[in-house]
Order: sequence, then structure tokens, then C-alpha cells
Amino acid sequence: AMIDKGNHRHFMAKEIYEQPVVVAQTLRSYLRRMENQVSLPDMDFDLGQVKRVTIVACGTSFYAGLVAKYWFEKFARVPVDIDVASEFRYRDPVLEPGGLALFISQSGETADTLAALRHAKAQSQIIAVVVNVPTSSMAREADLLLPTHAGPEIGVASTKAFTCQLAVLAALAANLARANGRLSAEEEAEIVWHLSEAPAAMNQALSHDAEIEAMAHLVAHARDVLYLGRGPDYPMALEGALKLKEISYIHAEGYAAGEMKHGPIALIDDNVPVIVIAPSGPLFEKTVSNMQEVQARGGKVVLISDAEGIAQAGEGCMATIEMPKVHPLIAPLVYAVPVQLLAYHVAVAKGTDVDQPRNLAKSVTVE
Ligand code: G6P
Repeated sequence: AMIDKGNHRHFMAKEIYEQPVVVAQTLRSYLRRMENQVSLPDMDFDLGQVKRVTIVACGTSFYAGLVAKYWFEKFARVPVDIDVASEFRYRDPVLEPGGLALFISQSGETADTLAALRHAKAQSQIIAVVVNVPTSSMAREADLLLPTHAGPEIGVASTKAFTCQLAVLAALAANLARANGRLSAEEEAEIVWHLSEAPAAMNQALSHDAEIEAMAHLVAHARDVLYLGRGPDYPMALEGALKLKEISYIHAEGYAAGEMKHGPIALIDDNVPVIVIAPSGPLFEKTVSNMQEVQARGGKVVLISDAEGIAQAGEGCMATIEMPKVHPLIAPLVYAVPVQLLAYHVAVAKGTDVDQPRNLAKSVTVE
């Protein structure tokens, strides 16, 4: 079928807007709403026997994996190693037979990830694949195939495939936790409920589009932009920075908020916008104190938080973007939306080729 942009100017905008629908579609295969349970496709191994998970991916898919590491360790208490595929293959990683090796890819064809998958297979790992193209090479080589149902993604910079990956990974984390006896039926029902809320919360995030468009000029003239976050929002800072550099060609760096004092704080002056991703919660105060270190040096902050966080720390920020208050498990899915929209509008303001940024390819099938 012909894929068109609908009412949108770019495929990227269309794909950002599709997210509530495709995330709901993806979650449907991993949740049994009636039974209040998470579920996975049938597998011929015991998830409860998995002693270690090794995650391998590239680009945006790698950042989905970084978020998953926080979830797998927090909820399932399973140790997780994670590498970009190009490093994994050549560092001769120690892999105990029977470990679960998890590969995440939109295309299922990225050369480095595919080579890493084959390396892990040769080391007797169980191969799980989160992939958007069900006919891809990686899908065919999986022991456990975990499809995302994002539909074809045309924009080179990944958006909807990423949030669908997060949805699958959250469900996988809950399944792992249950298999390890770390999830009561009640807790499982709660997780199902929170995950089911994600599409509506993402819709709410999308309703801030015009506001984000109006603040794009605050970033469009910058030479450097810094993104800060903690916990699972640290990978979201990395993803925010990647989106911005991919399509607007502005140099951007994502940093763990607490690590900023060990280097990037030297960059801060009033020409460097700092995007702070900080839902209210246990880590909020810590991130806010890092944010204040930025402000004390003249740094201009855009705070992305919920009403509670903005009420507490929004004053003195150059701008704020209000997200709905959500459970920490779905925060990365919801906070993905404003960072995507910000990158998108900055790129449009700069007049770059949003859907086909220079030097980048949708799928990199060479090493
Ligand atoms: C390329 C694309 C990125 C993507 C990465 C990994 O660099 O431009 O958007 O995240 O490949 O691709 P994959 O298909 O393996 O997720």
C-alpha cells in the first residue's frame, strides 16, 4: 500500500502523531486486559531460569535498551549488560550459556546488530528480538520474537518504533519479574493498568505541540544544547539529544544529570539551552539541584515535568512543558513525545530535510 503523509508536512510528524495508536496496538499483543495479566508469545525456555540479560542494539534502539536495563533490574532483579552492537561483537564479551541475549531493532537488518546476534547465538545464548519488521533477518533468527506493531516507519529519525519498543520492553520486564516471583497478582494488575494508560497520556503530551513549536526558536539558534535526566530519563536525555542532532544538525549532548558537574558544566553559559527531563518522583529533587547549578551559571533551562514538578521548580526556567502525571514505568513513553516534537520543530524552523537528514540512512546494512 502507498504510504502518504496524511495531513502532515513530514512523515516524522505523522509518525510522532501515530504513537498513541501504534503503542496501543503493540500493547494489545502483550497485555491480557480481561485477566489483568501481561503475556508473551509462547517460548520453549523458562524465563524464570534466565540469570542474566545482555542487550545489544544501535542508535535509538540502543536507547530503548538502556531504558529497559533500568526496568529489568528494578522490577525483575535480573542483572543486565548492555552494549552498542559495534562494540559488543569485538570485545569478546563473557556470555554464560543459557543467558538471554536481547536485540532491539526497527528494521531487523542493521548489520552490526545482526552480526552481534549471530555472535551471541554461537555462544549458546537464547536469542530474543524486539523488531518492527516481522519478515526481517533478525526476526527469522530469533528464538523469542517480540514484534512491535508500529507499522512502516519512513522518517529516518526513529520515533514511533522507539515508543513501541519501550512498550514491548516494559511488558517484558513485567513478565521477567513475574517469572522470578517478584510480582504479586495485584502488582501485575497495576502494571497492566498503568501500561494501558500510556496511549492516553501520550495523547495528552501531543496536545502541547503548538506550545513546543512556539518555543523552537529558543533552541534553533543555539550551537550546543544539553539534555539532562536521571534514572530511566537519562536514556531519554540521550535520545532527545540524538533526535536534535540527527535532524537539526545542532550539536547536542545527553548527560546523566548528576554527572554534569564532571565536565559539561564547563560548557554552560547563556547561549546553551539545557533541556531537563524530570517527572516528579524520588529523583526529582536531585535533578532540580543539578538544574539550579545550570541556572546559577546563566544557563537557560527548558523544564519538562508534570504540574507538581513545574510548580516546585518551574520558576526561573526559560520555558516549561507540562506532561501528565504518570507512573514511572510509562514516563519514558510519554516524555519521548515532547523531545521528539522539540527536535522536529527546531529542524523545521531551520529548514533542514526532516525526513531525510544528510549523511544518515534509515537502515545501515554495512559495517
Ligand atoms: C540508523 C537510523 C536510526 C536507527 C539506527 C538503528 O542509524 O538512522 O534511526 O535508530 O539505524 O536501526 P535499527 O533498524 O536497528 O533500529
